[in-house]
Amino acid sequence: MASSTVDASTPATARPEVVTEPRTEPLVGDWAQQRRHFTWESARAQLDGLPGGHLNIAHEAVDRHATGPLADAVALRCLHRGAPTTELTYGELSRRTDVFAAALRATGVRAGDVVATLLPRGEELYVTVLGTLKAAGVLSPLFPAFGPEPVRERLSLGRARVLVTDAVSYERKVAPFRGTLPHLARVVVVDTDDPPPGTVAWSELERLGAQDLVAHGTHRPLTRPDDPALLHFTSGTTGRPKGAVHVHEAVVAHHATARLVLDLRPGDTYWCTADPGWVTGMSYGIIGPLTRGVTVVTDSADFDARRWYQVLQDERVTVFYTAPTALRMLMRQGSDLAHEYRYPALRHVASVGEPLNPEAVLWGLEAFGLPVHDTWWQTETGAIMVANVPGTPIRPGSMGRPVPGIDVAVLQRGPDGRAAVQDDAVTVLHDPDAVGELAVRAGWPSMFRAYLDDPERYARAFADGWYLTGDLARIDADGYVWFVGRADDVIKSAGHLIGPFEVESALMEHEAVAEVGVIGKPDPLAGEVVKAFVTLRAGYEPTPRLQRELISFGRHRLGSVAPREVEFDQDLPHTRSGKVMRRLLRARELGLPEGDLSTVETPS
Ligand code: WT7
Repeated sequence: MASSTVDASTPATARPEVVTEPRTEPLVGDWAQQRRHFTWESARAQLDGLPGGHLNIAHEAVDRHATGPLADAVALRCLHRGAPTTELTYGELSRRTDVFAAALRATGVRAGDVVATLLPRGEELYVTVLGTLKAAGVLSPLFPAFGPEPVRERLSLGRARVLVTDAVSYERKVAPFRGTLPHLARVVVVDTDDPPPGTVAWSELERLGAQDLVAHGTHRPLTRPDDPALLHFTSGTTGRPKGAVHVHEAVVAHHATARLVLDLRPGDTYWCTADPGWVTGMSYGIIGPLTRGVTVVTDSADFDARRWYQVLQDERVTVFYTAPTALRMLMRQGSDLAHEYRYPALRHVASVGEPLNPEAVLWGLEAFGLPVHDTWWQTETGAIMVANVPGTPIRPGSMGRPVPGIDVAVLQRGPDGRAAVQDDAVTVLHDPDAVGELAVRAGWPSMFRAYLDDPERYARAFADGWYLTGDLARIDADGYVWFVGRADDVIKSAGHLIGPFEVESALMEHEAVAEVGVIGKPDPLAGEVVKAFVTLRAGYEPTPRLQRELISFGRHRLGSVAPREVEFDQDLPHTRSGKVMRRLLRARELGLPEGDLSTVETPS
């Protein structure tokens, strides 16, 4: 058990610092020294690389272990509810991904082509991700709980050439729109040997790949560090989802942070609860941990407190990376439940995605004997940027300090947010505790390299050599970063970013809806839930029945991003340019004075 002391004399924060004595010397060593001496070049040197300065994520994550002492170590252990656990060693994962890469080659997939996944967390998902990267394809993971609308939109925007999915998702979410997706040449269905018309069975694809391997041998496309590797969709306030493009060089940051922040080392059993449809489940559910040679545990089941404790205990998980919503759901069930199980192997617990309540940091101590270490990053940053690293004092409520190799600041845009950024006019706020927009100095390896098809929006995200994150924060005198809020209208529900525009657009398709404004309504468990304010067309009555119908209409089209609540409002507030003022709707919902729209309005 880690010993811990609480130092009540800390002046800078409302809560006392939590100082724990790690049981194992953290890999980060002396934090301050690490930060001084760290360079991205030295981080890169810890990886293998490929001849001629090439670099490939899948090589670093799998192949380089498959020929060394870790060949027979378990890389991946997939748990399922009501089905047997499956395991792949690094050697097996290397061969399976070779086969998948060969199958892509055999079916005409070229370097740079987009391969999308819409899959439950199981072997095929992991093989597809890593096999695609080996084949120099660009992997675009979709969250399996998305409804048909978000799926269609992302497949279309990404011009996906291949989709790997299961039969039910295909029939319900893709087949009805297949005709509108001209780029989608091939759909692979993993869970049947009798695939729906227009699709191929996974088993058939593997047969093709194996044949091709025999005929042509393993093929290692030599990717350059700057070649695109991942396409992650994320949401802004306005317009369509943004496709954040990441390159193979990102693996340098995945590896370095998996080492220094998550403290991962060979022999660890590691569980990241995020789905690979989101960036956390990709960077830290697959890539980072595998580059560190650990055993990655995944579970295809949904959240269940008892099951989670059981997994932590029975799998002897050593490092656990999860989200505040999940921690709050565990907390709600009480620590007695936590104490029905034992976690002698657990060494480090971390969280990401939304504000982590100070109570949750401390609850970690109560439940596991370990405080929860908050980390901050975004889809665009590709890897952890701010963190409470193991062995350093935690200030509960703070996200921690910038990780080695990363500089952050809080900035003020000029008087007119938009124009100022175009003019590169930003001011760094040096005053400790001044609130501004959190920014990261551009140039780290996992920095997104484009918003797909939107160079202007990409350019607008940078000013004076800083990447502007859209988050508001303050930095205290000791460099700890405190999250204040979002600078825009995006919604954070259960750690997932939801674009209000995407939800509004889907609801607008209902015949009764004249106009709609969507906000995040504060929720004690999920942080926020999606709430829609709807103006009805003439001739429609605001009945509870219509309310239910709109909710089910939303759920059917949008899946997990659908509004939980619909309120009728025949008098939505508008800006002078005629847009619904979500900010005002939110102020009203929160019972704030309507004039108090203090958060900055910025484009995103
Ligand atoms: C946004 C990014 C990559 C992490 C998963 C989400 C919010 C993230 C924290 C934190 C408070 C946080 C921010 C950020 N966020 N981590 N520790 N404390 N807020 O990636 O979907 O791109 O969301 O999540 O608002 O900008 P994402």
